[in-house]
Amino acid sequence: MLPHKPRILIVDDELGPREALRMILSDDYDVVAASNGNQAMENLSRLEFDLVILDIRMPDISGIDLLAEVRKKAPDTEVVMITAYASVDTATNALRLGALDYLIKPFDRHSVKEAVEKGLSRRSKTKTLKSKLDELELVNESLKAEAENAYNNIHKHYTETVRSLVTAIDAKDSYTKGHQERVAIYAMLLAVEVNLSVGEMSLLQQAAVLHDIGKIGVLENILRKKGPLTPEEFKLIKQHPVIGAGIISPVEFLKEAVPIVLHHHEKFDGTGYPRGLKGLHIPEGARIITIADAVDAMLTERPYAQAKTPSQVREQLLLCSGTQFDPRLVRIALKIDLPSRRIL
Ligand SMILES: [Fe+2]
Repeated sequence: MLPHKPRILIVDDELGPREALRMILSDDYDVVAASNGNQAMENLSRLEFDLVILDIRMPDISGIDLLAEVRKKAPDTEVVMITAYASVDTATNALRLGALDYLIKPFDRHSVKEAVEKGLSRRSKTKTLKSKLDELELVNESLKAEAENAYNNIHKHYTETVRSLVTAIDAKDSYTKGHQERVAIYAMLLAVEVNLSVGEMSLLQQAAVLHDIGKIGVLENILRKKGPLTPEEFKLIKQHPVIGAGIISPVEFLKEAVPIVLHHHEKFDGTGYPRGLKGLHIPEGARIITIADAVDAMLTERPYAQAKTPSQVREQLLLCSGTQFDPRLVRIALKIDLPSRRIL
């Protein structure tokens, strides 16, 4: 199949120049002629043209107005203006408005062909460039989809890894089974009241689920010990926030959770561990987890202590407000409806 000829629209109200142009161009191009602006508009809405040759002075719509319409309707179509000597200024203006070139009447065969070829060559370059840009856009889209997919896979693997780590801690310390998830739930209940942003809540939830991950590095017989701990044993157990922070810090996703995990045993009055941070120097997420952690411990039946009722838990929170806990967060925690026994 032969490639289709470029399509050219000639718009001129004068029969002479219109037919002269048709004769010069019809052998090589698919030529459509219009004798006025309205006819030209009709053709433009019906067909796609590679190039329009446009007389500037016409009775109904001026060539300049028509040029603006072509630019609007078919921005990739090239336009060559035709003008008499008297209106070279207008032609120059047309170039500023986006026409490619102008022909001055009376024009000769050579200059017409030259202007048309120049226009069609630019049109073809624009088309190639556009199709390349479209291809690039497609490649870009597919790369984006691949990156998203890879991110989702990593996230899925990360979630599975976290789950296995949490299961590993539960296996070491069976009586606190489910503790990390429950702390995450209480922390979320508090976070809603504190008005944390969605991003901050998601970070807090990650940190809460992982806050005791460092217990993996603590001997099982210490974790499971029913009686009181010796000072040496307590020293070892106090290492778990540091061990936990060390475990998660190489994971890019968890970088922001590191300070929360590291400081979840700090106390508001500065007597906590591992750094003895005080008051608002303790990250807010860690201050929230400290309360959620204590709430779950108090609602849980232990070998050496009975589970507390929600009102006893509230009393204890109030009692330790300002020493162990952030008083502002205690006030907020007291508004939360606690379950009558531990959840999960
Ligand atoms: Fe802990």
